[in-house]
Amino acid sequence: MNRLEGKVAIITGAAAGIGRASALLFAREGAKVAAVDLDANGIQTVVQEISTAGGEALALPADVATADAVQQVVRAVLGHFGRVDILFNNAGIVPHGKIHMTTEADWDRTMTVNLKSMYLLCHEVVPVFLRQGGGVILNTASATALRSVPDRAAYSTSKGAVLALTRSMALDYVRDHIRVNCLCPGTVDTPSFRQRMAAFPDPEEALRQFVARQPMGRLGTADEVAKAALYLVSDEAQFVTGVAFPIDGGMAI
Ligand SMILES: NC(=O)c1ccc[n+]([C@@H]2O[C@H](COP(=O)([O-])OP(=O)(O)OC[C@H]3O[C@@H](n4cnc5c(N)ncnc54)[C@H](O)[C@@H]3O)[C@@H](O)[C@H]2O)c1
Repeated sequence: MNRLEGKVAIITGAAAGIGRASALLFAREGAKVAAVDLDANGIQTVVQEISTAGGEALALPADVATADAVQQVVRAVLGHFGRVDILFNNAGIVPHGKIHMTTEADWDRTMTVNLKSMYLLCHEVVPVFLRQGGGVILNTASATALRSVPDRAAYSTSKGAVLALTRSMALDYVRDHIRVNCLCPGTVDTPSFRQRMAAFPDPEEALRQFVARQPMGRLGTADEVAKAALYLVSDEAQFVTGVAFPIDGGMAI
């Protein structure tokens, strides 16, 4: 398959879950992948898998919440691949808690990792897109930005802001051939989801409850979300911009 043939894609949070599945799928579709994550070993493994399958990828360990690190990432991508066509802002953290349980440090870290990182990456990559004559940005928001769930005050706020940022950017650059969309995944069975379950006093019971609240009676998979991401970054979606695309088994209905 070659839906992304010749494109260069930066994917953040590429070591695990949705980012990892997207890195592997985008590479299978012909993209050259810059895999960015805090987890250096994790992205090295992803890059190795892509290379073994005959694809091309670069591991760039970085904290996307840090301006210097983001600037280094974009410089490294341009130095190695010479261009960027796709920016998939996917790295994120999922803190738990109502507002009175959320410390100031947790609040700030959530906004920095989930939201400011997108500003930092877009700030570096949009000028490249403007020089090149276009590009595609995809941001990972969440179904919790569309419909509230309990104990996600800081998280839902950060993801709601991702929707607003996506729409603003989509409008600002619509004549510059830059499309900007976001994904709103429901509950997806990823390593971080499993860690969240493990933190409950009775992880098995917590998992049963999460599954029970799903309209389809099951969790989503990272591969299912990666397929939606592939559509939105591909030329098949060239008339699509500014959307918040739910991929949630009906959770946000
Ligand atoms: N899993 C879900 O149920 C779900 C639902 C809705 C939205 N999301 C969103 O999807 C995205 C991916 O989540 P996932 O479930 O695949 O999580 P995950 O934890 O499995 O993967 C996230 C990756 O991001 C990386 N990361 C975290 N902070 C980083 C930072 N500061 N710099 C660089 N890398 C960093 C982690 O190391 C990890 O490899 C997140 O934005 C999350 O909010 C997940």
